[in-house]
Amino acid sequence: MSRLDQSRSNSATQCRSIILYHCRTILRAPYCAGRQRVSFDPGGSLRRFGPKNSPVDHKIIMQRFLFPRWINPLMGLLAVAIAAGAVFAGAMGGLITDPKTLNPGYEPKQPVPFSHAIHAGQLKMDCRYCHNTVFEAAHAAVPPTATCVNCHSPADDQGVTPMAAVHAESLKLAPIHQSWKTGRGVAWKRVHNLPEFVFFNHAAHVNSGVSCKSCHGRIDQMETVYQHEELSMAWCIDCHRNPSPHLRPKELVTKLDWDPETFDWAAETGDASQEDFAIRTREEKNINPQVHCAVCHR
Ligand code: HEC
Ligand code: HEC
Ligand code: HEC
Ligand code: HEC
Ligand code: HEC
Repeated sequence: MSRLDQSRSNSATQCRSIILYHCRTILRAPYCAGRQRVSFDPGGSLRRFGPKNSPVDHKIIMQRFLFPRWINPLMGLLAVAIAAGAVFAGAMGGLITDPKTLNPGYEPKQPVPFSHAIHAGQLKMDCRYCHNTVFEAAHAAVPPTATCVNCHSPADDQGVTPMAAVHAESLKLAPIHQSWKTGRGVAWKRVHNLPEFVFFNHAAHVNSGVSCKSCHGRIDQMETVYQHEELSMAWCIDCHRNPSPHLRPKELVTKLDWDPETFDWAAETGDASQEDFAIRTREEKNINPQVHCAVCHR
């Protein structure tokens, strides 16, 4: 063995023992044992360890071994925990507090003071006159201006008002008349709005006999539409677990003032009560709302 080799070997041994010493005292023995195969370069950085009694350069040890090995799997967990925390915080901040989804009472100001209390209440117009897709489609369309103009047509170019025009001079109807002339729709503000990742379908609900009232409240008494229910996931699932109390004959779904207590079940449906009606209908129409995730998150 040459002198150089000898000294290399010596200093390597020395280094190893220094590291081992520090390992036992500073770090943990099992961890050190696993690290001993690290190859040292006696002529390189390790020379800085110096002779036995000189102060040991802790930095090198600390740099290389800053995190003991047993931390590694924990780092994975930590990363997952942080990521989950971020998602949760995002959901709490971004989705859960979205005023358009979860705030019962949300009542945006509309461009025209359209009153459901007048049209659906007083005038007893059926919901389907205006929301005509509600039994066929996922969405219950908000009516186009043409629907309003059936009754509220504006004066023509000569200033002549059709005989049937209701409140033709009303300022409240100005945006409707404007929209009719320009062909640009009225910018109704959305009241109910689920997040995009939720699938909802009106037809599936109303055809099963769930009334607009169960989800929107007494729209026929509202001057301005407001959100009546929370529209949270828990709210959806509550009813999916037990829809029976919400079921009624399909023809009565848009009759919001209908009262199951005074209804003559025996004469009208042949059932003894609403409970019996619900049991029979659920069996006949196979109404079993699901609660697994893919039903609403597709
Ligand atoms: C004469 C037409 C008309 C009739 C009849 C009518 N609506 Fe509406 N509905 C509208 C218009 C226009 C809007 C949009 C403006 C607003 O929100 O008030 C609307 C909005 C709504 C909204 C809020 C939509 C949103 O933005 O989330 C609901 C819910 C609703 N109607 C339910 C009903 C129900 C239930 C009935 C039957 C009891 C009914 N409507 C009858 C015209 C009508
Ligand atoms: C079937 C006929 C009919 C249709 C369709 C209709 N309305 Fe009316 N609307 C009326 C009648 C009737 C009144 C008056 C009620 C009253 O004065 O007691 C009225 C009153 C109003 C008023 C109050 C006007 C005022 O100056 O007091 C507004 C605003 C209005 N309607 C908006 C609309 C809008 C918007 C639509 C379309 C979404 C619409 N209406 C569709 C019949 C209709
Ligand atoms: C099971 C609950 C439920 C029932 C029953 C229900 N709705 Fe809705 N409705 C909703 C929800 C939830 C939204 C929001 C949908 C979205 O954001 O995609 C909504 C939205 C609407 C809208 C806004 C346009 C749209 O489709 O997004 C109208 C108008 C409406 N509903 C009318 C009606 C009418 C009229 C009836 C009865 C014939 C009815 N709804 C029955 C829950 C219901
Ligand atoms: C008041 C009761 C009730 C509420 C509230 C309700 N549902 Fe339902 N849901 C039903 C019934 C009843 C059915 C029909 C099940 C059947 O036909 O087996 C249904 C069916 C469905 C379906 C299946 C539609 C299809 O295409 O087969 C979806 C999706 C759905 N609901 C989503 C929702 C969401 C999202 C909410 C909340 C925003 C909600 N529901 C709130 C009663 C309710
Ligand atoms: C009956 C319909 C329905 C079913 C079934 C359903 N969800 Fe949801 N989910 C919703 C609605 C509605 C929202 C939006 C509520 C909101 O705006 O906070 C939602 C929101 C969420 C969110 C967003 C976080 C939050 O709370 O706002 C997550 C995550 C989620 N659902 C996961 C699931 C999982 C996992 C399942 C199956 C165990 C499931 N959902 C089943 C209707 C449903």
